[in-house]
Amino acid sequence: MNEYDSARMADVLAPLGYTPTDTVGDADLAILNTCHIREKAAEKVFSELGRLRLVKEARAARGETMMLAVAGCVAQAEGAEILRRAPYVDAVLGPQTYHRLPEVIARAVRGAGGVLETDFCVEEKFDALPAAQNPAHPSAFLTIQEGCDKFCTFCVVPYTRGAEYSRPVAAVLAEARGLVERGAREITVLGQNVNAYRGDEDGEPVALAGLLRRLAGLPGLARLRYTTSHPRDMSDDLIAAHAEVAELAPFVHLPAQSGSDRILAAMNRRHGTSEYKACIDRLRGARPDIAVSSDFIVGFPGESDSDFAATLDLVRAVEYAQAYSFKYSPRPGTPAAELPRQVPEALKTERLAELQALLGEQQAAFNQSCAGRTFDVLFDRPGRHDGQVVGRSPYMQAVHMDGGAELLGEMARVEIVAGHANSLAGRIAGTARRAPDVRGAA
Ligand code: 5AD
Ligand code: SF4
Repeated sequence: MNEYDSARMADVLAPLGYTPTDTVGDADLAILNTCHIREKAAEKVFSELGRLRLVKEARAARGETMMLAVAGCVAQAEGAEILRRAPYVDAVLGPQTYHRLPEVIARAVRGAGGVLETDFCVEEKFDALPAAQNPAHPSAFLTIQEGCDKFCTFCVVPYTRGAEYSRPVAAVLAEARGLVERGAREITVLGQNVNAYRGDEDGEPVALAGLLRRLAGLPGLARLRYTTSHPRDMSDDLIAAHAEVAELAPFVHLPAQSGSDRILAAMNRRHGTSEYKACIDRLRGARPDIAVSSDFIVGFPGESDSDFAATLDLVRAVEYAQAYSFKYSPRPGTPAAELPRQVPEALKTERLAELQALLGEQQAAFNQSCAGRTFDVLFDRPGRHDGQVVGRSPYMQAVHMDGGAELLGEMARVEIVAGHANSLAGRIAGTARRAPDVRGAA
């Protein structure tokens, strides 16, 4: 979502004459877009700011200025603290205020102190963001929903991103059409709780499944994905869409967080392991070749050895194609941070290593099982060496292949020749059911 937000900030700044640079020393304006989900991510902000301060000073010594802004959820949660600890920061912007960037910059240029802009009106933000002009990434993101009403006891999102808000269907379709016209072949619709999407079309509610069906009808769009989902919001309609919508990738990211019912209850996840497994069974029933990914947290307060063993059991039962796993990080203001029986760091480290070893084995096994299969691969970046390109399989695996730059932005049929721990190797199998080229269309 931060990647999407950063792209939209670039869109807001383009009419003012700002263009992106890869060299931070050349920047007239540097915006640090931040994440508050775990302490490690939030801590990075201050070390990065220290680095940017040196760049700012080096530019000042050359008679050049550099505005420095902090955006994202750390800005939302710790804005005043940032301005106090890093007074060389010119502006702090919460995630719902990017449309005000031009005004914030003008105020920072005029004023002496840092500008703090952390208002909360997500609707206004989406309405006010300008249409993008730059070429789109072949695999583009599109935020359709923000915020979360679930209040898992470990999570800051309901506080930093606020209550659930879904964008209207017409706005999503217009943005998606624009992305495809500018070169996107694949769209991942985003939301903190994306399958709780509840849009509106002519006064009628439209859920995620309905939105995906509408998006799938866009000429030129070859593949659709959505992330991140909550098991409670996996409706029958959404599961049916996996069986019926050809463009929908056979892949679902469905965070489990833990395999212990006791811990899931303490996390306020509102589902148990049996509901979670039933959900996976329903998805596999609808789309037998679907691959599943997840998020896990180890070392939630009170997690015993047998709770952790239950997480390993769940992983063994589901068999994941990939997954993310984290040590529990106490976040200020969340209920779990106040719980007794916090798990010692060394034990979290041990459990994380054991879980990641198991998940790594499952990922390698899944990748190896792909050898000999033929996939539609969307090539979106050059490889490390000349004459190589890298794309993504339907299952989000990186696919490395010998091939020229003409493949970039294209989807091609690729035979997988080898599956490695973190990627696949392939060769062209023939021309894909390629999406008609609509770039440059009126
Ligand atoms: N500590 C560790 N991991 C967390 N996540 C969210 N909050 C925390 C926390 N306090 C993880 C969850 C979520 C993912 C985006 O980040 O697994 O699904
Ligand atoms: Fe956080 Fe996801 Fe729980 Fe919402 S559903 S509170 S975003 S972990």
